[in-house]
Amino acid sequence: MALDYKTLVETYGTPLYAYDFDYIENRYRTLKEAFGGKKSLINYAVKANSNLSVIRHLAKLGAGADCVSIGEVYRALDAGVDKYKIIFSGVGKRDDEIEEALRKDILMLNLESEAEMKRVEAIAADMQKEARISIRVNPNIDPKTHPYISTGLHENKFGVDIETAKRMYIYAKKSPHLNPIGVHFHIGSQLTELGPIKESAQIVADLVRSLHAIDIDIRFFDVGGGLGVVYKDETPIDEREYTVAIFEAIKGMDLTIMCEPGRYLVANAGAFFTRVLYEKRNEGKRFVIVDGAMNDLLRPSLYNAYHRIEAPGKKGEETPADVVGPVCESGDFFGKEVMLPPLEHNDILVVHSAGAYGFTMASNYNTRPRPAEVAIIGDETRLIRRRETYEDQIRLEKEYLIP
Ligand code: LLP
Repeated sequence: MALDYKTLVETYGTPLYAYDFDYIENRYRTLKEAFGGKKSLINYAVKANSNLSVIRHLAKLGAGADCVSIGEVYRALDAGVDKYKIIFSGVGKRDDEIEEALRKDILMLNLESEAEMKRVEAIAADMQKEARISIRVNPNIDPKTHPYISTGLHENKFGVDIETAKRMYIYAKKSPHLNPIGVHFHIGSQLTELGPIKESAQIVADLVRSLHAIDIDIRFFDVGGGLGVVYKDETPIDEREYTVAIFEAIKGMDLTIMCEPGRYLVANAGAFFTRVLYEKRNEGKRFVIVDGAMNDLLRPSLYNAYHRIEAPGKKGEETPADVVGPVCESGDFFGKEVMLPPLEHNDILVVHSAGAYGFTMASNYNTRPRPAEVAIIGDETRLIRRRETYEDQIRLEKEYLIP
């Protein structure tokens, strides 16, 4: 991100998220071009970064949306995503969410169990509608990623096995209130190996062939998200190799390929800015205490995730330091043993690769206001979400305060 950090934090304060919109556009175009002339739809996984301006930016480029709650569906619609480019996934959809999704007439609901299919059927029947559906298949493939973000094994809660999926498609085909049009799989996140995706695509493509043979007209082949990015020294999957693997799997079938990247599009578009409050040493161990904390950016605490931390413009001998926030938990850190030069009050630290699962996983723990978010577009910066205030935080309690 080529920008003047100082002006940015002086203008908008810290802690702060900033996203490079040109980078997001480049990523979108690179992936889209890798699909070449084939029918494809990139459904941005809204959970990665749900800021309305981010979603709108992608919608303008032609992206659809992959949503996991009715709230995310509303965000996609509010941001201007075409309703026929929105899919609604998730293992536990409430009745009211299903009803709303049907009322909003989005492209399809992605079903994750037989029980859920029966609920969708009953709700669609009550509304005298036909629900367009896809089924999330769990291909039982090890994606070789962090266990918390691995989703394609039978031991995970996601999707149904191939045999169950087949049974569900046959049932749905006969139901006047269900219209099976898609198939879906998503085996995990931050994937850096193509093999497991390729294998899954082949298994699921074979399922589609067997469905076509019995006249079940599957038209959408959704390969999920999961494309890994560089946080440190990872080698990401090549876009072209990715799409070619999918083309090969579905050879001979006329399908629209859908994919649901989140992290790929936004992770390295974003950085998190925080200010140094103090330095201190405990028995020789060096701590840099900053004004951002785990409530703002949870990934290091939750997954022990690595985010590169940099002190722009600072010079001097680098020594290892734990970069920690003010929250009352030992797990409140952004990095351990990070090599940093001597720092002073008000110096800025940049925590890189924070555009995905950063702000969306932020909370108000310790009654801390969630950070502001800024877009960088060309040479300009625009506030796209103002910093929360104390008043924002107590708004929902104040009028219910027990006297
Ligand atoms: N589609 C489905 C059905 C998903 O469950 C996910 C992510 C995606 C797409 C997007 O995956 P991506 O392309 O971003 O890898 N909070 C964790 C990541 C959780 C991912 C959950 N599902 C993290 O901070 O690493």
